[in-house]
Amino acid sequence: MKTHILKITDPARDAHAVALAGDLIAQGKIVAIPTETVYGLATNALNGEAVGRIFIAKGRPQDNPLIVHITELAELYTLSPEVPESALRLAQAFWPGPLTMVVKKNAAVPYETTAGLETVAVRCPSHPVARAIIKAAGVPVAAPSANLSGKPSTTDVQHVIKDMYGRIDAIVDGGPSSIGLESTVIDLTCTPPRLLRPGGITLEQLTQVLGEVAVDPAVSGEPDLSAPVRSPGMKYRHYAPDAQVLIVRGTREHAADYINHQARTCGKRAAVLCFDEEAALYPDLECVSYGPEKDYGALARNLFSALRRLDSGDIDMIFARCPEGGGLSLAVENRLKKAAGFQTISV
Ligand code: TXA
Ligand code: MG
Repeated sequence: MKTHILKITDPARDAHAVALAGDLIAQGKIVAIPTETVYGLATNALNGEAVGRIFIAKGRPQDNPLIVHITELAELYTLSPEVPESALRLAQAFWPGPLTMVVKKNAAVPYETTAGLETVAVRCPSHPVARAIIKAAGVPVAAPSANLSGKPSTTDVQHVIKDMYGRIDAIVDGGPSSIGLESTVIDLTCTPPRLLRPGGITLEQLTQVLGEVAVDPAVSGEPDLSAPVRSPGMKYRHYAPDAQVLIVRGTREHAADYINHQARTCGKRAAVLCFDEEAALYPDLECVSYGPEKDYGALARNLFSALRRLDSGDIDMIFARCPEGGGLSLAVENRLKKAAGFQTISV
């Protein structure tokens, strides 16, 4: 398939490209678009056949539902027969932005989009290029992250080209994603509301608006595959480079001793993913640092591109340092744990 590349820096100036991308989406073609979280693979959310092609392009399991993107709160009422009061409060506080809400779906939303569920996940992104394209499409837009299923999400157009070129109709280059991790997902169909995936809107921020928020066990631990899952996406190994990843917890010095020793003796081609302050402790190892230890915004922004960089060489073992704290570090920790298949060691 021929994949068109469209560069959109300023939606007003690049109005022709915006209209073209919108048209393709409305027709049920698949277009990768930039958002503030990660790039998404977009098509008309109300067209079940088109949505089916997204699953094929990504190699995505059929039971993992998609997020539907809108540009105004009012559009939520065209997708759901029952918009709870909590959704209005959250939208007031955090839309447009990196928050996805799960609500009851109506008959307009095909089961292809929700993978057979009676609920639909809806997000209103803030990225000006995403918003202009969705408005131009004139329909709600289904968009999973624009990566091959199981791989780290894409935060830069080069990643999208690597995973998706030749598999979809067009790729919009809108520059790097400013947040770098996928949106927070909260289920509003249960009481109390339940955090299914941590992201750019933190648990603390949600709690401030809603009062009580339950945290799905899959957020911090390995999901129990025998129990019914509330967010099917949480059960798959995810964000995973080809190399094995091991999270190493402990003080800076203990971790460096352990990692340097293991790297010499494990018989694998090893590399380290660490905080900026630690890079000097690994003079003999391939080392990628992804931000200062306490700058969770930088760690979130850089994590996926760091994992992709480490994966582009012939590394087969990555020792990873993981932030611990509140706020956005919960999301970084969640993605890193999933990349590691929950393999963690404390030293
Ligand atoms: O930031 C984002 O959310 C990006 C950008 C493109 O918007 N999209 C994204 O989509 O991350 P995806 O498909 O990679 O992740 C969607 C997540 C999955 O974990 C999926 O299981 C969950 O949302 N999800 C979707 N619909 C759901 C539903 N009805 N109930 C529970 N979880 C749902
Ligand atoms: Mg994804």
